[in-house]
Amino acid sequence: MASPKVFITRPIPYSILKKIQSECEVEMWHTSAILPPIAERIPPLDGLITYGHEPVTAEMFDTSPSLKVVSVMGVGYDHVDEDAARERGIALGHTPGVLSDTTADMTWALLLATARNVVPAYNHVHVNREWNYYDPNILWGYDVHHSTIGIVGMGRIGYAVAKRALGFDMKVLYNKRERRPDWEEELGIEYMDLEQLLKESDFVSLHVPLTDETIHMIGEAEFELMKQTSILINIARGPVVNHDALYHALKEGQIAGAAVDVTEPEPINTDHPLLDLDNFLVAPHLGSATIQTRMKMATMAMENLFAGLNGKRLPYGVVQAEEVS
Ligand code: DGY
Repeated sequence: MASPKVFITRPIPYSILKKIQSECEVEMWHTSAILPPIAERIPPLDGLITYGHEPVTAEMFDTSPSLKVVSVMGVGYDHVDEDAARERGIALGHTPGVLSDTTADMTWALLLATARNVVPAYNHVHVNREWNYYDPNILWGYDVHHSTIGIVGMGRIGYAVAKRALGFDMKVLYNKRERRPDWEEELGIEYMDLEQLLKESDFVSLHVPLTDETIHMIGEAEFELMKQTSILINIARGPVVNHDALYHALKEGQIAGAAVDVTEPEPINTDHPLLDLDNFLVAPHLGSATIQTRMKMATMAMENLFAGLNGKRLPYGVVQAEEVS
């Protein structure tokens, strides 16, 4: 019997690739260059592993009628047409859980770096070769400890961010469609509507999925509510924040700073005016980028792939093949 044909949209760890290659005929996009639309380059496939956010569309499914499984190496699957997969009986899997703590750590890296001017300090010494020996007036930041953080979107990652905030003696506010009284009790966090949360927070950290309701949920009106000393962290999805409004808010001093791991578009255009601002810090989507976590994600993606190819239930499934709608 011919081996199943699998396409992998990004280079994955070699040890996992070898295991997949032992059972499948694999084509992998080897570079981190932007992948042409998947539908245009893919011959009929049995399985697909995606990392990155290139759209996986109904059109792509129709060019590959043999496709059994789409395995997303990541927790978010907003780039996959879930309904189209369900209609065609294509299984869809992702890698929840393993990256929550890692992404929460990165949230704190961005928050602390911005509040305490880590990048400007690096530029000051490494790039400009200046020191200003004990000058008490340079590179002032903002206290993190005993401040207030507002967490927008309280899922697994938001919860992990909140837990870390307690170590900084912070007041933790959160907003979520459905309240979590159990977490309020466990962590001593306070539910607040978005408007009030934006008014009261020194740090606003976004952890919502990308949906029709969350596109541009932070825009001009929301920046107007925020404190001039506040810092925005976005490690969720770029389009959750209106980037024109963000530029204006940072440039006009409506807020003090922003640090983002995700942009709109992604990657951000190299001539985007945000990149000229000193109070804007961007990382290239590194939320889950640790050796341990990326290995776990690749392993789970492989397990989902093999299960889907063999007609079994995906261990980390969003859509199971038998759920044809
Ligand atoms: C995720 O897991 O959703 C990350 O953003 C990678 O896509």
